[in-house]
Amino acid sequence: MNLCIKRCNRITGEFSVGGDKSITHRCLILGAIADGETKIYNFSHAEDCFSTLKCLKSMGIEIYVGKECVSIKGKGVSGLKEPEDVLNCGNSGTTMRLLTGLLAGQEFYSVLTGDDSLRRRPMKRVIAPLRMMGAEIRSRKNSLAPLSITGKKLKAIEYKLPVASAQVKSALMLAGLYADSETIIEEPIFTRDHTERLFDFFNIKFIKKENKIIVYPAKNFPGRVVQIPNDISSAAFFIVLGILVAEKIVIKETGVNQLRCGIIEVLKENGADITLTDIKQSFNEPIADIIVKKSEPSPFTISGSLVPRLIDEIPILVVLATQLKGRSVIRNAEELRVKETDRIKAICNELNKLGADIEEIDDGLIINGPAKLKGAVCESYNDHRIAMALAIAGLIAEGETVIKNADCINISFPEFINILSEVCGEEYIQRKY
Ligand code: S3P
Repeated sequence: MNLCIKRCNRITGEFSVGGDKSITHRCLILGAIADGETKIYNFSHAEDCFSTLKCLKSMGIEIYVGKECVSIKGKGVSGLKEPEDVLNCGNSGTTMRLLTGLLAGQEFYSVLTGDDSLRRRPMKRVIAPLRMMGAEIRSRKNSLAPLSITGKKLKAIEYKLPVASAQVKSALMLAGLYADSETIIEEPIFTRDHTERLFDFFNIKFIKKENKIIVYPAKNFPGRVVQIPNDISSAAFFIVLGILVAEKIVIKETGVNQLRCGIIEVLKENGADITLTDIKQSFNEPIADIIVKKSEPSPFTISGSLVPRLIDEIPILVVLATQLKGRSVIRNAEELRVKETDRIKAICNELNKLGADIEEIDDGLIINGPAKLKGAVCESYNDHRIAMALAIAGLIAEGETVIKNADCINISFPEFINILSEVCGEEYIQRKY
């Protein structure tokens, strides 16, 4: 499917973007190894989450997807059974890395694979520490998937992560549940802490002291009822569109975990009209209504410890930067090169096709604004966040913009096109098959 987008000068509305993908993966996994039923409300319908769900089903976990909630019949910490076939993680790095951690401690054989993109992504970051714990993991050369895992009782280790990665941290936290004593994980920079919050919520014993996490061998823990906040990474596309053209939009009950909110922080600091209202705690995560109005923030610089707190939002922040008066700079973001595609290259190439002035550097981008964007035919690189960022760029470009292979949007945000049509008007966004 291709998306055809026309310029839209004004949006308004009040909407929810759907459940958080990161948290949904973790709830599914913890629900599977809990004792008894876990119910997940506001479950993310992202294709990535269905990859995790199907892998868990292949290991004998009964999961019912209802209208209101997903119900998982947890089998306890030792209840997973050997899958009869290869586990397909699709496009989902979170599925593959978290499950590698979980499977390292299961006393059976399993194989994890994924699509073309996932089979190119670096897995050494999880394989290396898990091998130190005694896991038997084989891979293609350069530590690429498919990965085959012969799980066993693991040895506890003390490990400092060489890259700031919540996926690797979470994989080791899951593996730590199957180790012979306390596993100590140290983070170089704080990354999203959803796994820690859920360990707490499910009463799984661990300690977090500054940047160190101590995980204890698992004792059984009961299933829980969880309400997932709406996904700030999905909201990000509308936050940027709002700053560019909104009379006023309200993005309801969105997760505002500080370790995910780098985008709000940097935009507010630079003068964007964003207000958080009705801030409250929903289960184990903070949520708020995000109100965005058209405004003219100054150009921004993103680097250092801010990067992991907005890593997934960089493509859409680059779109915004093309419209700001002056030079925006993004550094220390080399991780973007090993996401679903090389996001530094992809966003730079495609926005420059639309008339932006962006320079690619090793670890980021330099964006000179403001640029008058003009419609063109763009590639999605089969990367959901590139496709959605380009769709927003298309809405502010003159003429028509076409985004090829836009089905990938369903990987993280299947509601995206419908919400866009609602806030802009159907005539501005058309699917072409
Ligand atoms: C995620 C962590 C981040 C993020 C990804 C989801 C998670 O990846 O980019 O979209 O759910 O833990 P890294 O851990 O590779 O930084």
